[in-house]
Amino acid sequence: MISAEQPINFTRGVPADESFPLEQLADCATTVLSGRTGTQVMQYGPSRGYAPLREWLAACHSVSPDQVLLGNGSLQLIDFLGLGLLQPGDLVLVESPTYDRVLTLLRRRGARVLGLPLDADGPDIAALEEILQRETPKLLYLIPDFQNPSGATMSAAKRKRVVELAEQHGVILVEDAPYRPLRYRGEILPSLFELAPHRTLHLTSFSKQISPGVRVGYMIGAADTVTRLAKMAEDTYITPNLLGQATVYEFCQRGLLEPQLDRLRALYGQRLLAIADALRTQLPAAEWIEPDGGFFLSVTLPEGTTGAELCQRAAEVKLNLSDGCGFFPNPSDGERFLRLPFCALTPEQLAEGVHRLASIVDAPSS
Ligand SMILES: Cc1ncc(COP(=O)(O)O)c(C=O)c1O
Repeated sequence: MISAEQPINFTRGVPADESFPLEQLADCATTVLSGRTGTQVMQYGPSRGYAPLREWLAACHSVSPDQVLLGNGSLQLIDFLGLGLLQPGDLVLVESPTYDRVLTLLRRRGARVLGLPLDADGPDIAALEEILQRETPKLLYLIPDFQNPSGATMSAAKRKRVVELAEQHGVILVEDAPYRPLRYRGEILPSLFELAPHRTLHLTSFSKQISPGVRVGYMIGAADTVTRLAKMAEDTYITPNLLGQATVYEFCQRGLLEPQLDRLRALYGQRLLAIADALRTQLPAAEWIEPDGGFFLSVTLPEGTTGAELCQRAAEVKLNLSDGCGFFPNPSDGERFLRLPFCALTPEQLAEGVHRLASIVDAPSS
């Protein structure tokens, strides 16, 4: 039973604390540090990252190791992409809504960012076609699987069409896929990288699969782009977190990754069911996309309710919310949008959180 005094946080999209395989990681790190690799990972090393992990990932993605760049998480690799590929004023297309931190990075590089309205099955293709008739964007940044923040997954048909259009118009696809292995139901769809390897930069990360604390993300792309970004990495931090990378390598090559992913799918899949049930029964007037995986479900609040005023009222019932405007290239489009990350809360907390949310959505504002 959760007391009314206990706060419920729907603010940050973090993994569950109890999901971290601490003992296994400790054992892997001990092996790394006690062997010959100990000295190697304690020293400056290659800016592209720990070679055995690059080779292992190359085999997983059926590419050559010179197409793999490891970094300190994937977000910084996206920053390097902006630094390496964008000039101020270049157009970048994103989904609307999209991952807020990427919007910040793109703007920091002086990019012009336009949003494609997002439907339950991915971005609005007519809007994409319309923009491509008059402009050539440098990049098309997409999160096809269990999108942050909406939870939407791009359909197979839209993936195919996006790839065709990118080919026709010479646009580079940036596929950000940290949630892709966390599918709780339905069939796996081809990644954009699988559909168009020469045109796609595929980013992913161990943050959601093992832990953000290991700070290991990676990009798969053309070898010359990897070389260019590796130079940026070298100029920024000389060498990435080799201890984290070698520990992740040890974890993967011991065969621990798949069982870890199975545990996560079981844990988070239950949580998704819990929040979806709670929303259906307690907030029937809200609109939302039902995710098939990932960390996020987001609701569009009923007309007349804004996220900003709700955040204030939420504090009175010990509910922590953040308003959704930051996820939209045009912030006012997100006034009724509320992201509800569900993985770090138990089913009981999710039910109670949605109950509190419903109580303030229904309450007349003071
Ligand atoms: C879509 C997306 N891309 C990238 C990241 C950054 O992950 P990392 O920890 O690998 O930097 C996140 C983290 O929440 C995310 O949601």
